[in-house]
Amino acid sequence: MISFESVTKRFPDGTTAVDDLTLAIEEGSFTAFVGPSGCGKTTSMRMINRMIDATTGVVRVGGEDVRAINAVGLRRGIGYVIQSAGLMPHQRVVDNIATVPVLQGVSRKKARLAAVELLERVGLDQRLATRYPAQLSGGQQQRVGVARALAADPKILLMDEPFSAVDPVVREDLQNEMLRLQSELRKTIVFVTHDIDEAVKLADRVAVFGAGGRLQQYDTPEKLLAAPANDFVAGFIGRDRGYRLLQFGSGTQVRMHPLEPIVEEQIDGLALDADDDWRLVLRDGEPFGWVDAGGVAAHRDGRDLYDSCSAGGSLFNRGGTLRQALDAALSSPSGLGVVVDADGRVVGGVRAADVLEVFEQQRRSSVEQPETGS
Ligand SMILES: Nc1ncnc2c1ncn2[C@@H]1O[C@H](COP(=O)(O)OP(=O)(O)OP(=O)(O)O)[C@@H](O)[C@H]1O
Ligand SMILES: [Mg+2]
Repeated sequence: MISFESVTKRFPDGTTAVDDLTLAIEEGSFTAFVGPSGCGKTTSMRMINRMIDATTGVVRVGGEDVRAINAVGLRRGIGYVIQSAGLMPHQRVVDNIATVPVLQGVSRKKARLAAVELLERVGLDQRLATRYPAQLSGGQQQRVGVARALAADPKILLMDEPFSAVDPVVREDLQNEMLRLQSELRKTIVFVTHDIDEAVKLADRVAVFGAGGRLQQYDTPEKLLAAPANDFVAGFIGRDRGYRLLQFGSGTQVRMHPLEPIVEEQIDGLALDADDDWRLVLRDGEPFGWVDAGGVAAHRDGRDLYDSCSAGGSLFNRGGTLRQALDAALSSPSGLGVVVDADGRVVGGVRAADVLEVFEQQRRSSVEQPETGS
């Protein structure tokens, strides 16, 4: 769908922003460009819609050399979202979204109706349609920016650090919204970010750029984390890469230990020797809390015992990821994460050491797997 073939961009002052980039982006895929500041991410992206022309090499969209396509026509098929949302301050939200369709000849009334529908699509209340951009939060503005880019129904969406100016909580909402949108729309998305976690969460493929605009690695997130191509990529991903990789592993292979849960009524009759002797307590058939010797004593004294040992944080759905399994084990006072089936019934417990063992096996086999695709 989009390809770079030995593309170099040199600016008149001699700066090489992109150096011999070769990259193929599949139709309907989500690709992230990551890398430190000044490594050519934005320049590469802008060569797709011809806001910047390559010095040498060829950029193709849909198989065609972009230089052979009329720039205005090309951009019509490509939505563009930038960090500040880039909304026009003196136009209401609805008209911001409807701008491009109106320019393309759609009647204002029809374009406005479609714009209001798009608000819902990006998770906004339709009542926001009549506000001005300054009357929205940063996250809401960003969503309007996405709606505006989608208004002309482009096949390609370019997003340049669209979520970097909002706080982490809003950012996570926007990322989740993006995942949902992409599962519905299947656009070809190129997404620039500094944030490797964001890249790994959203993208099917991640391109890591290094100094001088040189591509260092282009791979699936799993492959990138499991087998960084060189020291630069390993350094960029950071020491947490093992933990990040956990979210791609399946927890189904982790050894399960038997749990013998009790119901609340049994607590008083329980004989536990030590405070590290834990039993899981069920309420209405579902995991409710853990109790140890101290907890049993507290219960006998009529004191509330569940404050400090809720099972909620230590639950792991069978079929979840290794990261969830590890979180469950680590947050459980007994060291055993509670494994539940799809109906919420307890089926056993998982230990952190077993999770890490499976992780190591999966990591080794993913590194040994030959590269597939481009
Ligand atoms: N018009 C220009 N003239 C000269 N140099 C430029 C121009 N635009 C960008 N550059 C240089 O090209 C290099 C790549 O810039 P680019 O904007 O693509 O980086 P980036 O990876 O998007 O960085 P950031 O993460 O900071 O946005 C930088 O060294 C930048 O200074
Ligand atoms: Mg940039």
